[in-house]
Amino acid sequence: MQNITTTFKKLFYLWRRSQVPVKQPIKISRIDNLIIFLVCILISIISSYKLLLISPLNIPDIFSWLLTFTEILISSGVLILVSKKENPTISSRQIFLIITLLLAVQVAKLALASSISPLSMIIPPALIISQGMGSITALAWVSIASLFWPDPEIVINNNLFFILLVCASIVSLLGGRIRSRAQLLQLSIFVPIGSFLSQWILIGKDNISLIYKQDFVLANRDIFSDSLLLAIVMLFTILFIPIFESIFGLLTKARLLELADKEKPLIRRLSLEAPGTFEHTLLICGLAEEATRMIGGDIDLIKTGALYHDVGKLHAPNWFIENQDGSKNPHDELDDPIKSAEVLQAHVDEGLKFARKNRLPKLIANFIPEHQGTLKMGYFFQKAKEKNLDINEYCFRYKGPIPQSKETAILMLADGCEAALRAMNINASDKEALATISNIIYSRKKDGQLDDSNLSKGEIFLIKRAFLNVWKRIRHRRIQYPTSKNNTFS
Ligand SMILES: [Fe+2]
Ligand SMILES: [Fe+2]
Repeated sequence: MQNITTTFKKLFYLWRRSQVPVKQPIKISRIDNLIIFLVCILISIISSYKLLLISPLNIPDIFSWLLTFTEILISSGVLILVSKKENPTISSRQIFLIITLLLAVQVAKLALASSISPLSMIIPPALIISQGMGSITALAWVSIASLFWPDPEIVINNNLFFILLVCASIVSLLGGRIRSRAQLLQLSIFVPIGSFLSQWILIGKDNISLIYKQDFVLANRDIFSDSLLLAIVMLFTILFIPIFESIFGLLTKARLLELADKEKPLIRRLSLEAPGTFEHTLLICGLAEEATRMIGGDIDLIKTGALYHDVGKLHAPNWFIENQDGSKNPHDELDDPIKSAEVLQAHVDEGLKFARKNRLPKLIANFIPEHQGTLKMGYFFQKAKEKNLDINEYCFRYKGPIPQSKETAILMLADGCEAALRAMNINASDKEALATISNIIYSRKKDGQLDDSNLSKGEIFLIKRAFLNVWKRIRHRRIQYPTSKNNTFS
């Protein structure tokens, strides 16, 4: 009997899942794949062809070339896989950027390796990759770019190689975390200073006292000019990062913070034309930020995503309850649940149009459809049933997709809990608030909305606690403080 029940449950689950759009994997067109593959082949040829220029050429030499060629080709493939793993929504443009930078470095090594320090060739691209694609991708890129030297005659000093790896790793790790252009500038000053000091200590020939500044500079002229060149190239890279952002659709932390500026025209419009939605957005930002901090997600991403998630309501602000002043509800006048459901869906479609018009990065635009997922518009579905309309439940569900990341899933949960928590009685206990939060989250989970988000049970538990903490803060704010009659103290 139990087996039959389980089978029915499974069948019901499969049927329910078949009613919602399935997860769309990121598609990279065949042409893009072919171009990427050809660039990888080019990188492998450039990095290994010098092995074939030996005369006389023996079979072991050809074998050694083939080995190096295959090694570089596989490494390039691994690099692409790592970048896809770290950035599940990576586009073909961004993969182009990674491998083109690798190609450029390999060409630069051939042309300039004898005259320019490897630090100036490898560290600046690592900064761009770490800013746009994250630290792990940057570290993978650095390891490939540092290991393969196309010209076998160029032998790099072991100490210099060590300094290169340390500096490039520091830039890769910090570059992924840096949150402002000012910090980037600091990095472009301190890394060259660090590289200069370490080169001076590990490879500098003369230990001339710092008191005789001129002698010191002259004796370490190469190291000094290399470090100066590194600083200049890094500064230029920082100047060009905004251009890379727009050409390759990169989403750096600095760009995220710029987008989160509440003076941005779209956000200003939201605050003026849909004040209720704006207030709802701010509260959700608080809930989502706290929950993301608890599970260790990307706080800047969710804060910015939350800010833009309901911008689509600008197309018809008074059709949404939070912007109605209690006078009349246009849905009542319309008295057509199917049309009302279309208006609700339109806040997602129009939001995506606003995102395109305002050139919002894809990762931010994803919050617009995914915060609604394929949720059922229960109120209007019920109304349609009461009217005995011939309806399909699918017409009363958002078009999706369901949340594809932890951040968009948290936003969906925050969106669901916000109104309920705001409406809760000020005297409600923590237990009651937690029960309300748990019910809402459970219903989303049961509906299959969290299936693609990768949220674990432990993380969902932490999200509940985070929402509760925010509710406690809201309740605390609403408690009126006793004031003295003459109000003489502050
Ligand atoms: Fe919404
Ligand atoms: Fe919302």
